[in-house]
Amino acid sequence: MANTAFQPRVFSGIQPSGGLTLGNYLGALKRFADMQNEGNFETIYCMVDLHAITVWQDPADLKRKTRELCAGFIASGVDPEKSILFNQSQVPEHAQLAWIFNTVARMGWMNRMTQFKDKAGKNRENASLGLFAYPSLMAADILIYHATHVPVGEDQKQHLELTRDIAAKFNHDYGVDFFPMTEPVIEGAATRVMSLRDGSKKMSKSDPSDMSRINLTDDADAIAAKLRKARTDPDALPSEVDGLAERPEARNLVNIYAAFADMTVEQVLADVGGKQFSEFKPMLAELAVAQLSPISAEMSRLMQDQEEIDKILRRGAERAREITEPILAKTYDIVGLVR
Ligand code: TYM
Repeated sequence: MANTAFQPRVFSGIQPSGGLTLGNYLGALKRFADMQNEGNFETIYCMVDLHAITVWQDPADLKRKTRELCAGFIASGVDPEKSILFNQSQVPEHAQLAWIFNTVARMGWMNRMTQFKDKAGKNRENASLGLFAYPSLMAADILIYHATHVPVGEDQKQHLELTRDIAAKFNHDYGVDFFPMTEPVIEGAATRVMSLRDGSKKMSKSDPSDMSRINLTDDADAIAAKLRKARTDPDALPSEVDGLAERPEARNLVNIYAAFADMTVEQVLADVGGKQFSEFKPMLAELAVAQLSPISAEMSRLMQDQEEIDKILRRGAERAREITEPILAKTYDIVGLVR
């Protein structure tokens, strides 16, 4: 069925499994706020705690990180009045639809998922069954809202292709046009923010080196120091995009600058081409600090009132269930489950 039959709706999620990084901010959170403010979509954003527990999480820590993530969403500009903001486990229809999708998805499809291979590492036999089934729950997160668009960083592309495969197979097997073909929205200059220590590795909360990433909770000094020490090459910045080929660290810093400044990479290079990193890095640090400092200050302020955060999550979950309950009921009916 053409997606025009579905109301324009955005869904996206972030795992509360670690602190937020600059990658999460530029690749996801900043874009979530933009899509909310553009006003073309209903926007639904989720802390995916059920995904987080596919690898071991300390229970008290998980609660703290979920609340901190909620504070991170709000501090980044997601407004819990304009968007629906909640944690996944409070909306049981996600897990219920995921079970149906476990019967639709094929083992062969799941075996191809690179994130599972990366996360399970060498010891696959010891990975949780949940980690293997993770992409099926992710498809359910999206399709339980009939979401039409999903803003994510590049690393989630394969999971979104699988979501389309699951929707298509469900529709085909049951002879319905029930689930939409969701569009990934992987746009902007920072869809893949790389490590500050190694331009071939993604910036990640799980990297053992804290110098490899900027955390949203870092203070101004830490941000400036990490950018100053970021690995680069000895050449000046080029004036054209072609000049960034084979220079992953230079490209990464230019991409980060472009994303903060809401400019294209071409525009940035037109301004800074010819400059040395010794001149460019302080410019980048100034921009980063100006945008990130208010976010980390607001996160700490919000974290002082846990009750308020929990209230926001409960209210978001109630609003979410107004959408998910009828879609799950219809799914059960299509599948032939008596209610
Ligand atoms: P997660 O929690 O790893 O990351 C959350 C979002 O941040 C983006 N991201 C990055 N973008 C650019 N550069 C980086 N270095 C970087 N690191 C992270 C991710 O692409 C993502 O958009 N499986 C998902 C969570 C999820 C989800 C969903 C997303 C569960 N259900 C449904 C969308 C729709 C994940 O692990 O993201």
